[in-house]
Amino acid sequence: MNASPLPSTDPALSIRGVEVVYPDGTVGLRRTRLSFVPGEFVVLLGPSGAGKSTLLRSLNGLVKATAGTIEVAGIGDIHARGALRRHRQRCAMVFQQHQLIGRLTTLQNVLTGRLSYHSTLRSLWPLPLADKRLALDCLDRVGLLDCALRRVDELSGGQQQRVGIARAIAQQPRILLADEPVASLDPATSMRVLGLIHSICKADGITAVVSLHQVDLARRFADRVVGIGSGSVVFDGPPAAMGEPVLSAIYGAGTPSPQARREQPPTQHVSIPLPEHAA
Ligand SMILES: Nc1ncnc2c1ncn2[C@@H]1O[C@H](COP(=O)(O)OP(=O)(O)OP(=O)(O)O)[C@@H](O)[C@H]1O
Ligand SMILES: [Mg+2]
Repeated sequence: MNASPLPSTDPALSIRGVEVVYPDGTVGLRRTRLSFVPGEFVVLLGPSGAGKSTLLRSLNGLVKATAGTIEVAGIGDIHARGALRRHRQRCAMVFQQHQLIGRLTTLQNVLTGRLSYHSTLRSLWPLPLADKRLALDCLDRVGLLDCALRRVDELSGGQQQRVGIARAIAQQPRILLADEPVASLDPATSMRVLGLIHSICKADGITAVVSLHQVDLARRFADRVVGIGSGSVVFDGPPAAMGEPVLSAIYGAGTPSPQARREQPPTQHVSIPLPEHAA
């Protein structure tokens, strides 16, 4: 399932010296350097409180980095004047809890993915037919075309997450960030929903950064795994390199679930590349 090595090219997204300190003084992310190759599917792993959401949210400015720079291909530093808006237009986010509007239809929810392409005033009127066609096409891709006119709060959790994916791809993103997109789903549905995100990203050449708690899903879908512990990168490498030493480095004494560990390959020696990520 893992793709063959990707050609080296300029990063789609890179961060240098990025640090997040919350207003109460909690350090969410220590000074970190990372870059993401166009089209790669990167999974963030780490225990609760490690800093996965902080890192993901800093990548689209939902959490403001208190130091460092975040650069996007074709845009530059996202904190430069006007850059954040342009970045967010092409950087979609999928959330654990969907963040859908329950009283609206499935189609209307997907159409909200198009709002950033219109002025505030224009978005008060029905969106153009081209947007509706695109939204319907996105619903078709996630297998929910026949639910287009149903209220979204009538759908199951797995269906709602597929609507969240359709809304994200309606944005025609270059980058997709997903924060535990399958955490609320049963194992079989998790596999299907993550498989859907993976296949769409690969088909459209979208660079994906996805946080997960399931090591087995990371092994199955990731081109590359970034392990986070206590706000720092503690591992960066292919899923095949995630043997026992790496899992211990990522999770410390708190180990991932038995189900997550079941498919572990034999232990291998891996160097844990701390220094080059500490900017
Ligand atoms: N808004 C906030 N204000 C203060 N501290 C915060 C805030 N959000 C997160 N933190 C802290 O930052 C650290 C990293 O949290 P973060 O939510 O990024 O972890 P996580 O790896 O996503 O965890 P989980 O797997 O539970 O989602 C934690 O110590 C957390 O308590
Ligand atoms: Mg989180």
